[in-house]
Formats: sequence, C-alpha cells, structure tokens
Amino acid sequence: MFVCVCNALNQGDVKRAATEGNATRPAEVFRFHGCQPQCGKCACHMRSELSQHCCSADGAQDRVIANVAADQAIAAE
Ligand code: FES
Repeated sequence: MFVCVCNALNQGDVKRAATEGNATRPAEVFRFHGCQPQCGKCACHMRSELSQHCCSADGAQDRVIANVAADQAIAAE
C-alpha cells in the first residue's frame, strides 16, 4: 500500500528511511529517497508510519513526537 502516491513510496520505503536513514519526519523520508513532496496529502499517514517504525531505545520515538509537535505548531501559525 502506498503511503505517498506522488512519489510511489510504500510502507516499506518509509520503514527503510526510518531504520537506515534515521528519518523521524516526512521531509527526511523524502530526502532519504531522493524525492520531494508534491501534494503533501501523505504527511499525516507518513508521520503515523514513522511513529510505528521508530524504536524508543535510542530516543527516536521521542524525536518523532517532538517533530510532530513542532510541525503542528508551524501549521497552526
Ligand atoms: S501523496 Fe505524498 S506528496 Fe502527494
């Protein structure tokens, strides 16, 4: 199942960006795969996928939560 239709990124691609590229936010997933966001409709789904694939052992889960909070604060401005 595609997470990002515009860039044909599926759940495995998001997981690989999180595990191999330490991605904790959508922009880092796009960067890892050498692409850019187009419509942006995948952002929420991608954040959800990232939160499932990041482990808490190295604080990655905390970074995801912090990044989501920062993204929400920016969106609210
Ligand atoms: S679905 Fe990801 S940028 Fe459009």
